[in-house]
Amino acid sequence: RHLVGRPLRRLCLSTRSFSQLQSVTEADLAHFAKILPPSAILSTLSPSSVPSSELEPFNNDWMNKYHGKSTTVLKPRTTQEVSAIVKHCNERRIGIVPQGGNTGLVGGGVPVKDELIVSLANMTNVRSFDDASGILVADAGCILQSLSDYLAPQDHIVPLDLGAKGSCQIGGNVSTNAGGLRLLRYGSLHGSVLGLEVVLPDGTILDQLTTLRKDNTGYDLKQLFIGAEGTLGIVTGVSILTAPAPQASNNVMLALPTFDNVLPLYKAVKRQLSEILSAFEFIDRRAYDLAVKHGQGRALDDSEVEGAECFVLVETSGSSREHDEEKLNKLLESLMGSEPSLINTGVLATSPAQFSSLWAIREGLTEAMSKEGKAYKYDISVPLHKFKEVIDTTREHIKSRGLLREGAVRHVVGYGHVGDGNLHLNVVADAYTPEIEACLEPFVYELVSKYSGSISAEHGIGVMKTHALPYSKNAVSIDWMKKIKHLFDPNGIMNPGKVLEL
Ligand code: FAD
Ligand code: MLT
Ligand code: ZN
Repeated sequence: RHLVGRPLRRLCLSTRSFSQLQSVTEADLAHFAKILPPSAILSTLSPSSVPSSELEPFNNDWMNKYHGKSTTVLKPRTTQEVSAIVKHCNERRIGIVPQGGNTGLVGGGVPVKDELIVSLANMTNVRSFDDASGILVADAGCILQSLSDYLAPQDHIVPLDLGAKGSCQIGGNVSTNAGGLRLLRYGSLHGSVLGLEVVLPDGTILDQLTTLRKDNTGYDLKQLFIGAEGTLGIVTGVSILTAPAPQASNNVMLALPTFDNVLPLYKAVKRQLSEILSAFEFIDRRAYDLAVKHGQGRALDDSEVEGAECFVLVETSGSSREHDEEKLNKLLESLMGSEPSLINTGVLATSPAQFSSLWAIREGLTEAMSKEGKAYKYDISVPLHKFKEVIDTTREHIKSRGLLREGAVRHVVGYGHVGDGNLHLNVVADAYTPEIEACLEPFVYELVSKYSGSISAEHGIGVMKTHALPYSKNAVSIDWMKKIKHLFDPNGIMNPGKVLEL
């Protein structure tokens, strides 16, 4: 583990700097026009010139924190088109930003400068689905929700669920190795992704789109692209093992008098619900209040939230409604009956509408933070028993710097995926300012490092955390990451400035 101030060994392989990359020119556009129809080229350059406002959604990230200056967005429809675009960019040394739904939270999907944006939005075909094996092969641009909708009548689900499902793409999910709300049950994409098709930085198509559960034929190259955040190539196709749709799903929002009860509760829930437990999500009181303030889901009654320091949303997914409800009811009875009780109260969804409404509170937290102000988001892995300490210590630190006040930081809140040891520490401010950032960083990263945690549990490094990578990766690991980057992308065109510092 690296602590602050520890000097990093100078690395022999540096990634290429931006000065070696070229801007898109009108001549490049003329070349792209031979590959793509006019409707697939959006550029502020002539001859296909569109107003720069049309490029805004591509140049700005979901939080409106990171801003690029790209002049051109291309929207290929096929892998061959992606390959032809990338080949040209490599020859011309034009930087490329692969973009999915642009819901990433670390600035990885928008240009640092004026790189070309390659949007996968036009690659939306399901290529195949086998309802016996459950294996789905889809274009990278398929929106997560569309894949869920496609699978529903076939009694299967994507083994991944997150609040951004209506916009994020499966290629983006794979490229960020998104975790989400049900990792506890279905595991990471490193396990469920069976194959990938990737356009490498020289335009070569790497076809590893296998549909095999078992394939021990040497190095598993696809794993390199899972979580590579578009720095090693553009994912164009994904083969993924989907899960049988649960025949019965239930959820319950538990109100806890103190954070100290979260861990014992988690142990009790795991013991009693066992194989039907599919989510165990933590929401602190401030986060809950903000969700309610910004209209996410239906608020619990006052009596249900009174005295609650935090909440836990538990979901079960199983194959028999009676059996699952019996287990859940027994759990609630034992929790309420124990002395002292681990929970104040529990709100059990009794209809599909209530089920969705409870989830909406949890899934709406990200949006609530953004509606409230500008959120500094720290997506960290720390030991479970340290969740509250990290939130409180950060709040105290901000307070000690005189920044917990109107006009600066308004809230320090936490929520996250308890089962995955993943806390989302959110510092909600009036504006993104250098002063607040300097107060938070490296403070938060040092705290994480102290607990041997990870500075990025599931959102990735993007552009936000390149400088902080040494807090979670040692010098030898970073050295090998640079070697791998150089091997795949010697000209440094693929998502420059992301993951690894330039
Ligand atoms: P983008 O934002 O477009 O891109 C993200 C990164 O992947 C960029 O570096 C980009 O260059 C790269 N990329 C995108 N597509 C490709 C491709 N085809 N080939 C190569 N590189 C590509 N994350 C979680 O892990 N868990 C959550 O629970 C979660 N919830 C969220 C809830 C909300 C409301 C929001 C806004 C975000 C959430 N996220 C969560 C963040 C998460 O990273 C993204 O939502 C999602 O995985 C990104 O997909 P995307 O298609 O939007 O990718
Ligand atoms: C979540 O768990 O809600 C997401 O990772 C997004 C966020 O951190 O806000
Ligand atoms: Zn999350």
